[in-house]
Amino acid sequence: MDKIVIEGGRRLEGTVRINGAKNAALPIMAACLLLNGPSRIKRIPNIDDIHTLSKILENLGGKINRHDDGMLEITFTDGENQDRFVAPYELVSKMRASICVLGPLLTKRQKAKVSYPGGCVIGQRPVDLHIKGIRALGAQVETTEGYITASADRLKGTELSLKGEHGTTVLGTCNVMSAAVLADGTTVIEDAAREPEVQDLAHFLNKAGAKISGIGGNTLTIEGVKELHGVDYEIIPDRIEAGTFIIAGAITKGNITLENVRAEHLTSVIDKLREIGVEISIIGNSIIVKSSNIYHPVDIATMPYPGMPTDMQAQFMALLCTVEGKSIITEMIFPDRFMHAAELRRMGADIRVEGSCAVIKGSPFLSGTNVQVSDLRAGAGLVLAGLVARGTTNVHRIYHLDRGYERLEERLSKLGAVIKRMNE
Ligand code: EPZ
Repeated sequence: MDKIVIEGGRRLEGTVRINGAKNAALPIMAACLLLNGPSRIKRIPNIDDIHTLSKILENLGGKINRHDDGMLEITFTDGENQDRFVAPYELVSKMRASICVLGPLLTKRQKAKVSYPGGCVIGQRPVDLHIKGIRALGAQVETTEGYITASADRLKGTELSLKGEHGTTVLGTCNVMSAAVLADGTTVIEDAAREPEVQDLAHFLNKAGAKISGIGGNTLTIEGVKELHGVDYEIIPDRIEAGTFIIAGAITKGNITLENVRAEHLTSVIDKLREIGVEISIIGNSIIVKSSNIYHPVDIATMPYPGMPTDMQAQFMALLCTVEGKSIITEMIFPDRFMHAAELRRMGADIRVEGSCAVIKGSPFLSGTNVQVSDLRAGAGLVLAGLVARGTTNVHRIYHLDRGYERLEERLSKLGAVIKRMNE
């Protein structure tokens, strides 16, 4: 197992290029199950979650070739492999996003058997809304022996809502939208997720011949079509990776430029960082981060898009631990997503977690120590804290980080961080 070792205290400077978005790439790759013929999808990050989904798709009969420039060529052919409809526990348990094959498999192969992804360290992660959505489209669904098994001859368009206790569902919207594109008639999804990654999937499907309107709003209207064809497509830049690098610049009081960014996807993140005192300029597809100001504590509440992403919460927590004064973070999407707080406390941070709130009393000094990564974004937060901590930080269990960030330590090192990967 590898760990990341960081000597804190270096100011970051230089330029980093942001990759394609993991959370757009995953549902788009799964949606290739719906298409007849090859698709070439550009800017797919070279990370473990993509490798896991590639294996699931190959298991389902897909042919996948990765090119050196990050392009994935994915081919499914109509009429072939109709009898393959299982996404097994061994692969699904590695990554919750594997659930996004459910909708495409069901509508294309009339049957889907997908291992139940279960809860995980960021809290309860039910799939009731996914099931509600595909049931509304006419599927028979059973959940037995740890699997969701769904079947239907041809799904039928309908009206449904995806509103749950914590708002809508991102992957649930992807699943139901992907199932509805080949359904008979028109489907209206109310309370749909508006995240840029959901929009990217909708644009991809439309390029392949689907008829989806209302993209970017809470109501999606999907007119069923008979078939979809392979396409060439470029994934949107990863707004969470971008946000993570912006905070890397900010926390080290550095001066960095991010290339290949869609700043309009980061409005809530940029607004909050400016409130803290970070100087951010946007020039075309680049963002420049400068941070000579004194920072101020802030309150943050995570929300569905266009609100503050829950996937940026741990990174903001790391930053706020270094900002003098009291900041409060309220987690509205995953109320228990605070595993990183205990690790940041080991570095000297003063954080009190009460229910879905974390109260942070910031101070300029964190100290390096051994910390463990519990999930992908928690890991990002710990690495950021390590960049400014006094002394050496050893970040263990970095396989979580490798699921979602491509060569994070190499890219931070190019910006001047003293950081390396070592075998434990
Ligand atoms: C996606 O997960 C992302 N994953 C997550 O990013 C992200 O944190 C999350 O959306 C919220 O933005 C991918 O896109 C691969 P949800 P998803 O369904 O779709 C509740 C990362 O680090 N809910 O939108 O699984 C749920 O418990 C990952 O890249 C139900 O109640 O999240 C939560 O409170 C981590 N019933 C809320 O909805 C359901 O059937 C939002 O979850 C489904 C969800």
